[in-house]
Amino acid sequence: MYVLGIDTSCDDTSFSLIEDDKRVIKNTVFNQNELHRIFGGVVPEIASRKHIELIEPLFTQFMTSIQFRPENIDLIAVTAGPGLIGSILVGLSFAKGLSLSLRKPIVGVNHVEAHAMSIFLEKNVDFPFVALVVSGGHTIILLVKDYCRYEVMGSTRDDAAGEAFDKIAKFLNIGYPGGVVIEKIAKEGIKDYVNFPRPMIEEDNFDFSFSGLKTAFLTYIRKNPPDEESLKHVLASFQEAICEVLAEKTIKAAKKFSVRRIVVGGGVASNTRLREIFIEKGEEEKIEVFFPSPHYCTDNAAMVAITGYYYYKRGLTSPITIRGFSRMAIPSTYV
Ligand code: KG4
Ligand code: ZN
Repeated sequence: MYVLGIDTSCDDTSFSLIEDDKRVIKNTVFNQNELHRIFGGVVPEIASRKHIELIEPLFTQFMTSIQFRPENIDLIAVTAGPGLIGSILVGLSFAKGLSLSLRKPIVGVNHVEAHAMSIFLEKNVDFPFVALVVSGGHTIILLVKDYCRYEVMGSTRDDAAGEAFDKIAKFLNIGYPGGVVIEKIAKEGIKDYVNFPRPMIEEDNFDFSFSGLKTAFLTYIRKNPPDEESLKHVLASFQEAICEVLAEKTIKAAKKFSVRRIVVGGGVASNTRLREIFIEKGEEEKIEVFFPSPHYCTDNAAMVAITGYYYYKRGLTSPITIRGFSRMAIPSTYV
């Protein structure tokens, strides 16, 4: 079965074609980073207008590059939310158009769930597992019980972890996306140079909060303007605080639910230091930690395609009237 995945949840326009859940024929991501560098971040209105401009030519280019005829697509899986609603509506409308013209079923996919399922593009993981989805828009802990069955156990009360990286980078004017730039600069830095707070690490819940940490960072920088050398150390300390909280709380969740497996997904999951800390702490607790390859951590349509495939296999598709949504929800319109 050939599944076309479409993701336009934020600034990336992505298409993917997969064969069952076994093979990614192609995954292509067109990002608008050059544009965002000008503004130091994603401007929703600009992102959705770019999607409108690009979606059709990119789709044609994608299908031509793999010499695949649209009539041979068996299922269309598309992000229905959460994300930037303007951007989502572009991808969703395009997918509906394809579904109607090709007379093929459509599945609206939850983008956060897709990040948690992206691991299945490369590996098998037994259920149940705890998933941490950590990206520019979300920091969410899920308890994944089976394909298409999960519960939200905790989430951020303010900024997402990736958002904290992005905001700091914008403030320092060091580039976009913030997490990527900060990881590079922090590589040689001293991790305990500044003892930044570890927000909510001890609290008996699975929620996060990163806006206080961001403020602590900004206060420190204003009091101690960094030079090139000390900036490495301050950023390494900031990255350490974020990564430690993410790993500590996710492992706590796994222990609480007596689950021995953790899957980490989302753009921040490509951070090398986060991976190291998770693996180290996981080994101590005898919990196996799984990470997708970095190109399946950041936004991609292959994860949307595989998630849609699992819904279809359980007889769950969406009506053509499926609506987009901006905040975390389970698409309520599976029929
Ligand atoms: O999953 P994603 O591509 O898009 C969303 O769904 O938000 O995640 C993008 C986020 C950005 O905030 C970016 O700064 C962060 O992921 N990110 C990283 C790294 N690569 C991307 N954060 C830390 N370290 C990285 N290597
Ligand atoms: Zn994402």
